[in-house]
Amino acid sequence: MNGNPKMRAAERAVEFIKPGQIVGLGTGSTAAYVLEALGRMVREGLEIRGVPTSRGSETVALRLGIPLLNLNDVARIDLTIDGADEIDGDFNMIKGGGGALTREKLVALASDRRVIVVDSSKLVSPLGTTRPLPVEVLPFSWSMSAGLLKEIGGGPVLRIDGERPFVTDNSNYILDCHFGPISDPPSLERRIKQMPGVIESGLFIGIADTVIVGDETEVRVLNRNAA
Ligand code: 5RP
Repeated sequence: MNGNPKMRAAERAVEFIKPGQIVGLGTGSTAAYVLEALGRMVREGLEIRGVPTSRGSETVALRLGIPLLNLNDVARIDLTIDGADEIDGDFNMIKGGGGALTREKLVALASDRRVIVVDSSKLVSPLGTTRPLPVEVLPFSWSMSAGLLKEIGGGPVLRIDGERPFVTDNSNYILDCHFGPISDPPSLERRIKQMPGVIESGLFIGIADTVIVGDETEVRVLNRNAA
């Protein structure tokens, strides 16, 4: 068995995909292993169609020969497989390390089943322990949104790419918020979503159905309903 935990989790996750399904394609280094495995399966004859969560995943999927649809072309997505930056014991997550949080959340919300692939370093308690919380905001008013996030203890930092602000696929900015340990993720999510200029927050509450955790020696499959 392969010793790469992310690859192991990804290769277990693609076993959930059935012929004919519409599959949400995640973003990030773990999701990239999912794309590689799925590309192999498509070349071997599996008929599925993918809905990418970022321009980056779209480019890779096209290179691998995975047929694609836009979210606007589908009524529902059967299954989405994506990564996460942090996940807690209630399956709440921080996502958006790669800046794709808004499309990732929309694709996840349109999906009947959400499978998250991580290595064991992503399992935390509570959220906010190892990673900042990304918040996507309108460039027009990013400083105002940053002020509001600061007022509630977010320690927002504008994400930079080289010498300029990082720009998302939706032409927005990201504020990486340093809340520290997050005691009540659903409540924080509600507060952030009400702020003017906020497009989306990287808190994903009640979205993960199945979490596949790879480590050096094994792959664990955890289900929310069984938790
Ligand atoms: C991108 C994401 C990714 O899923 C998250 O950052 C995990 O990435 P990786 O698998 O590379 O650790 O939310 O916006």
